Amino acid sequence: MNKVNVAIVGATGAVGTKILEKLIERNFPVQSIKLLASKRSAGTEIAAGGFNYIVEETVPESFEGIDIAFFSAGGSISEKFAPEAVKRGAVVIDNTSAFRMVEDIPLVVPEVNAQALSNHAGIIANPNCSTIQMVAALQPVKEKFGLSRIIVSTYQAVSGAGAEAIDELGSQSQQFEGRVANEAEILPSASAAKHYPIAFNAIPQIDVFDASGYTLEELKMMNETKKIFGDYEMSVTATCVRLPVVTGHSESVYIEVDQEGVTVEDIRASMEGAPGVVVQDNPAQQLYPMPLFAEGKDEVFVGRIRKDPNHAGGFHMWIVSDNLLKGAALNSVQIAEQLIRQ
Ligand code: A2P
Repeated sequence: MNKVNVAIVGATGAVGTKILEKLIERNFPVQSIKLLASKRSAGTEIAAGGFNYIVEETVPESFEGIDIAFFSAGGSISEKFAPEAVKRGAVVIDNTSAFRMVEDIPLVVPEVNAQALSNHAGIIANPNCSTIQMVAALQPVKEKFGLSRIIVSTYQAVSGAGAEAIDELGSQSQQFEGRVANEAEILPSASAAKHYPIAFNAIPQIDVFDASGYTLEELKMMNETKKIFGDYEMSVTATCVRLPVVTGHSESVYIEVDQEGVTVEDIRASMEGAPGVVVQDNPAQQLYPMPLFAEGKDEVFVGRIRKDPNHAGGFHMWIVSDNLLKGAALNSVQIAEQLIRQ
């Protein structure tokens, strides 16, 4: 493998710090690593893998000599700086929603559609965290039995909304003295007109609403799933809910398969051994995935696989993964590894 010069934009954030960790942990073949953030963080020291890195302000010239630039600093920063990075010869792996639905930009989960990487023009989009874990788990089912319908409800962790949202859950939880604190500034989204407490609550709004009544997070899941699977006929609907969980997204997923006569055992067998997927499904032993135990793990965990009593090809399941790892940082690093292999 050739050694590459890497930049991480948003290196001080919830996902950026995990990208650095994963690069080191997976022995990614780096020549150099440049950590970039806002002007506020310039000069901050970050220790990782036995080295001390100094964070720099992100400017167009930051990307001179960079081969791969990971972006995780929000959509507007990607829109501003990703073209600057590409202009200077870097390949951008973007964690924001800025480019995901642009027709010619590959949207990649390596276990599902690595082949899409062979055709890029400098920018590769990393899908939404909730989408990644769902499509990674469902890929073997789709491949074996065909998939025509998905109805998903999510139970999402606050870390998906960034480091400030984790702080807000922490401070609201500490203020609990028999009564729930009312002050909130970050969730459901910093730009929203109203904010609600997340501690001891469930907020059925992630990102802002579209005229359709769906939130942008829900539309991301619906549209990105079709793009990654390359099947725009598939029926996909989502309801996305934020819960007071720090890390680890959970999803209640209903699917309809095309093939007749498929059993729960068939579904389970197709997922067992699939790359990056771990089946944890034994009700008799109370074995099922939970976000608390998925935190820090690379895999996507699946359990509670049941047949729908009312629909021949219908199945329900529970899919959990660390939203900062497979849902973001790990998937980005896996994309970079695949690029280098190609
Ligand atoms: P900073 O720490 O300097 O604000 P999170 O998703 O956890 O909230 O993190 C957001 C990341 O995006 C942080 O690393 C943050 O850096 C970075 N960021 C925010 N604004 C900018 C900007 N104008 N230019 C570059 N990075 C930015």
